[in-house]
This record gives sequence, structure tokens and C-alpha cells, in this order.
Amino acid sequence: MTEASPATPLIDTSKPHPARVYDWFLGGKDNYPVDEELGRQITAMEPSARYGARHNRWFMQRATRMLAARLGVRQFLDIGTGIPTEPNLHRVAQTAAPEASVVYVDNDPIVLAHAAALLRGTPEGVTRYLQADARDPEKILELAGAHLDLDRPVALSLIALLHFIPDEQGAPEIIRTLMDALPSGSYLVLSQLASDHDPERTREAVAMYAAGGVTLVPRSRAQMTDFFAGLELLDPGVAWLPDWHPELAVDEERDGTAVPLYAGVARKP
Ligand SMILES: C[S@@+](CC[C@H](N)C(=O)[O-])C[C@H]1O[C@@H](n2cnc3c(N)ncnc32)[C@H](O)[C@@H]1O
Repeated sequence: MTEASPATPLIDTSKPHPARVYDWFLGGKDNYPVDEELGRQITAMEPSARYGARHNRWFMQRATRMLAARLGVRQFLDIGTGIPTEPNLHRVAQTAAPEASVVYVDNDPIVLAHAAALLRGTPEGVTRYLQADARDPEKILELAGAHLDLDRPVALSLIALLHFIPDEQGAPEIIRTLMDALPSGSYLVLSQLASDHDPERTREAVAMYAAGGVTLVPRSRAQMTDFFAGLELLDPGVAWLPDWHPELAVDEERDGTAVPLYAGVARKP
């Protein structure tokens, strides 16, 4: 089954949006001049920014490969999905397990506008896109519950999302609410911009995003680790993103450049 929830996308092209800036970093075409301008500013200051975005996609693929192929997970709830970029999470999960169910959630209407491209899943699996805000986790659970069996394990992923949600807007509570609703054997997959890799450049990036009206919240390794409280972190724990299970890489073009993002995957006991 494959479908998108109906909605009328209202796309604001007057200021940059995280999904579209990220699409520009990835070399996509679904962005506007304001997004490209911010992307270029960030890249001028941090030349590895585009490489970091690609690495983030590779982490999603490695984590999904491990969950679906090695750990037997058959349900995925991915919040902050972004504009489709092949291979998307459902492609990786359903390659390992065609019957896998994948529910995508994003709050940006442009992601919904591209959902048709995103939603070509297997006939035996479920691939669904929902427009909702991560800051309303109860709503996400209600909507996702129509497509996923929330009494069975789910891999919940918020990949490169939490650095757009300050603690004051409930980042830790969002994770707690979602994980509390999922059964034992569920997983939490996170990546997040680090505050302690190159603090000065990170501060510049925060200021550039702020000038475009986007709040960016880098976090330390300790803060990232706190998101996994009460869960069992898989090896190697909270790691620099390229160092998280590099042996699972498929078609990654690594050049050894450092990537200022943390990554981790944990199991609910
Ligand atoms: C940097 S992109 C990451 C995309 C994808 N997860 C990946 O790692 O390739 C961040 C995504 O989070 C979405 N986003 C930001 N704030 C959000 C919120 N409050 N609720 C839902 N999605 C949000 C953006 O629209 C964007 O698509």
C-alpha cells in the first residue's frame, strides 16, 4: 500500500527552509534561490557541508540496513524525512524485507509535494507519508497508528532533525513521548549536529541560519547521549557519524573528511 495524506501545500519561498537547504546540499533541484543562498554561505564557511549531508544519508542507509537485515525490524517511523533522495529509507528497508512498513513524517509542505516520488514502495509493504510536526508527538502517534501496529517493535528515526528543535520546544520530551508509546524491542535512531567539533564555525553556522529565520541547535556528545536515556545503545554508542558501523557501507564515496555530526542507535529494553 502506498499513499500520501491529502493537503494543500503552502510553500513559502521568501525564506530558507531546512528541507530545501538540505536538498541543495545534496545536489537536488527542489530548492529556491533563498535556500541556495544560505547553502552557499554555509559551504563558503564550511566546505565539507555538502559532503556532511551525503554522509548523513549514508548513515540513514547503514542504520536501516542493520535494523531491517540484521535485527529483524519490520516497522519504521521516520520523522523529519526531507525531500526524497534515492535511496530513501523505505527502499533500503524493503530491499531487506519487502513486507516492511514505513511511515514518513515531515512538517514542510514541499516534502508532501514530492511525496508521490517518495512513495513507490513494494506492493507487500506499507509506505505512507504524513504531514505533521515533530513538536506534536501525540498527533504523530495517532496518525501513524493507522498504518503501523504500535504494539509491535518500531524503529523510530529522527535523522538530522533534532538540531532544528531547541530543548525549550520540547526536544527531550518528544523523544520520551514517542519511545514511551513503543514496545520493548523498538529502536531509536538519531543524528545531530555537534557543538563540540569546531565550536567557532558551528557558531557561525548558527548565526547564518538565524539570519535566514531558522533556529539551529548544535549539541554536545553528552546532550546527544541524554536523548537515549533508559535505552540500550548499540555499539559503538554515540559516535561521529562516519564511524557508526562503516562496515555496512554500500556505495559510499568517503574521502576521510571529518563530519561534525553525532549518530547513535539504541534499543528499548
Ligand atoms: C536536514 S533535513 C533531514 C532529512 C532526512 N531525515 C535525512 O537525514 O536525510 C531535516 C528535515 O526535518 C524537517 N523538520 C524540521 N523541523 C521539523 C518539525 N518540527 N517537524 C517535522 N519535521 C521537521 C525539515 O522539513 C527537513 O525535511
